[in-house]
Amino acid sequence: MISKATIENVFEAARVEEVIGDFVQLKRSGSNLKGLSPFVDEKSPSFMVSPVKQIWKDFSSGKGGNVVTFLMEHEHFSYPEAVKYLAKKYNIEVEETVQTNEDLAVANEKESMYLVSEFANNFMHNTLLNTEEGKAIGLTYFKERGFTSDTIKKFSLGYSPDSWDAFTKEALGKGYKLQYLEKTGLTIVKEDKQFDRFKGRVMFPIQSMSGRVLGFGGRILTSDKKAAKYVNSPESEIYHKSKVLYGIYHAKQAIAKLDNCFLVEGYTDVVQFYQAGIENVVASSGTALTPDQIRLVSRLTKNITVLFDGDAAGLRASIRGIDLILEAGMNVRVCTFPDGEDPDSFAKKTPLNELTAYLENNAKDFIQFKASLLMKEANNDPIKKADLIRDMVVSISKIPDRIRREIYLQECSRIMDISEDVLFNTLAQLDKKDLSEANKKFKEEQKAFEIVRNENQAQQSKIDIQDELERKIIEIILLYGNVSEEFEDVLLKANEEGELIEVKEMNTYKVYQRIFLSLQEDEIELANPLFRAIYTDLINYFNQQETFEIEQYLMQLPPEIEQEVASILMHEEREVLHNWESQQILVKQKETTIAQYTTETILTLRWYWVNKIIEELKLSLTQEVKEDNSETLSMVMDYLGLTNVFSKRLGRVMSRYS
Ligand code: CTP
Ligand code: MN
Repeated sequence: MISKATIENVFEAARVEEVIGDFVQLKRSGSNLKGLSPFVDEKSPSFMVSPVKQIWKDFSSGKGGNVVTFLMEHEHFSYPEAVKYLAKKYNIEVEETVQTNEDLAVANEKESMYLVSEFANNFMHNTLLNTEEGKAIGLTYFKERGFTSDTIKKFSLGYSPDSWDAFTKEALGKGYKLQYLEKTGLTIVKEDKQFDRFKGRVMFPIQSMSGRVLGFGGRILTSDKKAAKYVNSPESEIYHKSKVLYGIYHAKQAIAKLDNCFLVEGYTDVVQFYQAGIENVVASSGTALTPDQIRLVSRLTKNITVLFDGDAAGLRASIRGIDLILEAGMNVRVCTFPDGEDPDSFAKKTPLNELTAYLENNAKDFIQFKASLLMKEANNDPIKKADLIRDMVVSISKIPDRIRREIYLQECSRIMDISEDVLFNTLAQLDKKDLSEANKKFKEEQKAFEIVRNENQAQQSKIDIQDELERKIIEIILLYGNVSEEFEDVLLKANEEGELIEVKEMNTYKVYQRIFLSLQEDEIELANPLFRAIYTDLINYFNQQETFEIEQYLMQLPPEIEQEVASILMHEEREVLHNWESQQILVKQKETTIAQYTTETILTLRWYWVNKIIEELKLSLTQEVKEDNSETLSMVMDYLGLTNVFSKRLGRVMSRYS
């Protein structure tokens, strides 16, 4: 166990904004810092850090707490791990009251996998630097590639001995369990024999954002055409290839600071770039970027520069994946290298100032780049050109920001020599297709919904009330969406005993943001499909537009939706509050304040929502005969706890109802 004195020292030294700053790009916002939530995918920041109070709150996921709870949530550290991480960061000596051997024994499975990976990393790095075989084979290879000793240490490169089970034997001898060697893929277990997966290869450890070793890439040293150039760790509980970027640990600070990220293909490209002095570089490890990987980068910067190898052949295929980056609202630039060169070879032979200049001069905006590339391909063939125009417009349609979309369409019209009208029409057609498909889906959903309604007469009035509440939500957004109001937030903070207590704080939000964040907290989706569609559209609209004019908003809606929105606005005129009172649902009159009105409507809806879940769970308890109902029961209990919280916050309003 870690001594109390150490824990105290750690808490004294650690600054929540510095610790979180290693993972999330934070910008000042009043007395607080603000950034994109590291827990959910979002486009506008809802993650707040208070340097004064030393706490954080994520309004998207509802999570919050102090510096240690952040590490526990974000890095999935246990409490002692989080404390040790902080101690390391702030150079504090860790005093342990019990031997670590015991810790090792009780550590959970994932932890054991981390430990065995860390051991493997140390073993292979040591083998590379300090054994005859490692030096003669692995180190020589790296030196030939031009990697310096500093670089080799920085990236903790290694060498796995060229014998069947040298590593496995060593690990077992040190008390690591075969079970975890197998689970991490370091050892391949066959009947009664065990083999080292990475036998005779040079090793690139793959680290998480916080520097933990998750897996490895092992490169073969011979040019044996039959053997794979790289062997990689298999997917495991700790290594998810699609969620990791090679080099992110070393690059994250530079990416945030320089506000750009270079994306390359291979391990060696990252290492060579970093050594050359360009530290904001990560690799997708030979595959197209995944949404999770894009999210990792987008927390640090909105700018990405994709570097392509010199061979033009793969280019067309490679640029396909880039639409996904555009969709994430990022600015994408691309840069190619001279024929036959890749980032590794080019960086190796080019001095830093020339390399930087090359990247600056040759990185092109992706949309422009793609338009020029496609133009060359079309070669005056009109049919081909029509296809390529559509391809181009599809890419542009992925860009979330309307104004940028328009600028790109104009730019494309110039490059591809087509009238702007044609491009705008193509875009409009794409949009319409999307919308009509969405509409069809709503209608189907709505039909299903009606059947449920009719079948279940008893539920009718409840559904109507929920419908009313959902309508109210939309109405509030339409009427007050852009108004800034003060709302009360409840933050979690640890007291001296380390217990989490609630602290209240007033923060300013726009009404639409507040509604969005609150509903997201419980993962509430509006039940009425039409309302849901309008709600989503409205939130997007507010996110993109500075101002909100109801006429203008209505004008750009498809007719069916416009009708519904108009009728919601009319509904408001008729004033339905008296109706609600008669059903004992009390939502306050608007005269109080917009903030109160909004908060109470949201709470009432959340209360309904949670009650519905409870009803469903209870039903499943009575209907399904299961051996063990304890899980469902404990869920019911949790939700009941939530309704109590809502009731308390709503005060007399809900107590009157229940
Ligand atoms: N890759 C892989 N398995 C392979 C080949 C490639 O996992 N059999 C991944 C690796 O992450 C590699 C990346 O794809 O780093 C790029 O491949 P490549 O350019 O062939 O490898 P480099 O790392 O650049 O190696 P080198 O420069 O030594 O050829
Ligand atoms: Mn390469």
